[in-house]
Amino acid sequence: MLAPPGDGWTAVEIGESDTSVFRRGDVFAKCCGPAGVAELAAERDRIEWLASTGLPGATVVDWLELPSGGACQVTSAVPGLPGDALAPVSRERAMRSLGGILRELHALTDCPFERPLASVIATAEDVVRRDAVNPAFLTDEWRKVAPAELLAEVVAERPYVESVLEPVVCHGDACLPNIFFDPDTLEVTGLIDLGRLGVADRYVDLALTTIQLHDEWSADPGPFLASYGVPNPDPRRLYFFRLLDPLTWG
Ligand SMILES: Nc1ncnc2c1ncn2[C@@H]1O[C@H](COP(=O)(O)OP(=O)(O)O)[C@@H](O)[C@H]1O
Ligand SMILES: [Mg+2]
Repeated sequence: MLAPPGDGWTAVEIGESDTSVFRRGDVFAKCCGPAGVAELAAERDRIEWLASTGLPGATVVDWLELPSGGACQVTSAVPGLPGDALAPVSRERAMRSLGGILRELHALTDCPFERPLASVIATAEDVVRRDAVNPAFLTDEWRKVAPAELLAEVVAERPYVESVLEPVVCHGDACLPNIFFDPDTLEVTGLIDLGRLGVADRYVDLALTTIQLHDEWSADPGPFLASYGVPNPDPRRLYFFRLLDPLTWG
């Protein structure tokens, strides 16, 4: 099994696909096989960059190359609780903190990483071509439609989205398990899982976060959007990035 060297590691998450995550005391190790090393190294560089900006997140403690050809990225444990573990009573304040931290992230400059729409769509085309779309990531409505048709919908909307593009530094997978909060103050203690961090349309993050608040917390995302500063988001772009995201995993 893919694991970091040494004793005392507990598996946190055995990845369905390419990575597995382990914990030992106050560090986490994310490990991959040979095919995943470039992607994991790209995440490591993003964690280091985010740490350099002063925004809260993990720090890279070590990078281990395994005899198998795989690698492990070792990071400091972010304190607090992931968003999906917060008590319902905490959610409203957490939503405001989340809006604030995304606003700060999106205001950063000089980010060396890009995630252009063209390359994200190319990834989706590849996933659909390989028939590798994970139905678990689709809504009931979308599951009734062939993935190629979903992709065609994305492609048809692309010119509109490009005509109003607002490039900012996006997290890229801003779902609740990837954002940690202090359970008392409900301030954000860290952003993790940064493999997709890069300059992209601000709606990449707004789309994923608002749908998570709706699906996981049954919450009206109003307080989040007000705190972020876009109280009346563009529904076309929210829909576009919600539809595109599930086509890019697999
Ligand atoms: N540095 C960290 N601090 C706290 N928790 C972490 C850290 N790294 C990973 N985790 C935990 O492990 C889980 C999986 O790690 P993550 O980097 O999000 O991988 P995945 O891509 O599989 O979602 C996270 O949801 C979180 O609970
Ligand atoms: Mg994650």
